[in-house]
Amino acid sequence: MSGLLSPTPKTNQLMNTNVAIIGSTGRSASAWTDAFVAAGYAVRSLVRHPRLLPNRPGIRYRRLDLDDPSTYQPALEDIDTLALVTPADPRQPEWEIGLINAARNTSVRRIIKLSVIGADFIFPLSPFARWHAEIEDALRTSRITHVILRPNFFMQNLLMQKDVIESGIYMEPIGTASISFVDVRDIADIAVIAASGALDDQALTLTGPEKLSGDEVAAFLSKATGTAIHFVSPDISEFRATLLSRGMPEWHVAALAELYSLVQNRHGAYLGSTTSSIEEVTGQSPRTLEEFVNSAFRLRRSGRGSFDWQVARRFFHQFLGDRLDRDARWPVGFKL
Ligand SMILES: NC(=O)c1ccc[n+]([C@@H]2O[C@H](COP(=O)([O-])OP(=O)(O)OC[C@H]3O[C@@H](n4cnc5c(N)ncnc54)[C@H](OP(=O)(O)O)[C@@H]3O)[C@@H](O)[C@H]2O)c1
Repeated sequence: MSGLLSPTPKTNQLMNTNVAIIGSTGRSASAWTDAFVAAGYAVRSLVRHPRLLPNRPGIRYRRLDLDDPSTYQPALEDIDTLALVTPADPRQPEWEIGLINAARNTSVRRIIKLSVIGADFIFPLSPFARWHAEIEDALRTSRITHVILRPNFFMQNLLMQKDVIESGIYMEPIGTASISFVDVRDIADIAVIAASGALDDQALTLTGPEKLSGDEVAAFLSKATGTAIHFVSPDISEFRATLLSRGMPEWHVAALAELYSLVQNRHGAYLGSTTSSIEEVTGQSPRTLEEFVNSAFRLRRSGRGSFDWQVARRFFHQFLGDRLDRDARWPVGFKL
C-alpha cells in the first residue's frame, strides 16, 4: 500500500518551513526532531535551557518554560507549524491551552498535537486521556488547523526500566492483558507527513502492528539480551507503594494506579486494539516491538549508543538544581 507522502522529502520548500517542537529532549519530541530535520525542515526546538544543548545542524533552540506563560508567544513567532508535545502532568491542559491561545496571536497556521489513545472516548478512562481530551476540545474550538495523534503505550517506555530488565524482570501491572505498543519513530514519521497538510483536521489513533502480553514482551527481551527476563505483574497496592517509596510524585502514582487498575479489571481492551493508520499514511508497516527491543537493548548492551538524551537531561537538571521528581529512575517508566 502506498502512503500519503514520503516522510523524508528534502526540498527547498521544506527548508523554508519552520516547525517548532516542544520538548526536543523528551522521548517523543526527540524522535520528532530527528524526523523533521531528516525531512529538511528548519526546526526550532523549544526547551527550558537552550544554552546547555549541543549545536545540531538544522536545529535552533529557543527558550520555552511551560511554567512561565510569558515565554509562550516569543517562542512561537515566525513559526508555521507547532508540534504540541508536552509531558503528562495535571497541568498539561493549562500549559497546552495557554500555548494554543498564544499561537492564535502569531503566524502559527497548523498545530500537530500529541494526545493519547482513548482521549476520544465520551468518558475517557484514564487521567492522562482526560487531560488530553480537554486540550483536544480547546484545539477544535480554536479554529486553528490541526492534526491530533493518539498513540498507544510507547515501546520506548521499556528504556525507563532498563536496569530492572537487565536484572531479569520486566515489570508491568497489566495482568493477562495485551498492549499494542507503538514506536515513537512511527509517530514522528506521521507528524512530518501531518506538517505537509495531508492530514489536516484529522485525528488518528496510532498503534503498533500487534498486541502483546507481558509474557510475549518478556520473551522478546530474553531473546534480545540473551538472558532470561521474567514478566512480573504486581497488584496495584504493591505497585503504588513501590513507586511512592522511589519518590514518584503522588499525582503521578495515582494516575498510573488508576490506569493499571482499569487494565487489571479488564476495562483496558482498547489498549490491545490495533489500527492500520501508520501503514495507510506512511505506506510502511509499523515497527515491531521485536525490532525495537533487538536494536535498543543490543545497542545499549554493546555500549555503542548514540547521544543519550535521558542521561543528558539528568545531568542538566542536577547541574541547574531543577526539580528532578519526574526524571528519577522509576522501576516503571510509563508516563501516559
Ligand atoms: N509514554 C507513553 O507511553 C505515552 C503514550 C501515549 C501518549 N503519551 C503522551 O506523550 C506526551 C509526551 O510524552 P513523553 O514521554 O515523550 O515526554 P517526556 O519524555 O517526559 O518529555 C517531556 C519533555 O518536556 C520537557 N519539559 C518538562 N517540563 C518542562 C517545562 N516546565 N518547560 C519546558 N519543557 C519542559 C522536558 O524537557 P527537559 O529536558 O527540560 O526536562 C522533556 O523534553 C505526553 O503528553 C503523554 O501523555 C505518552
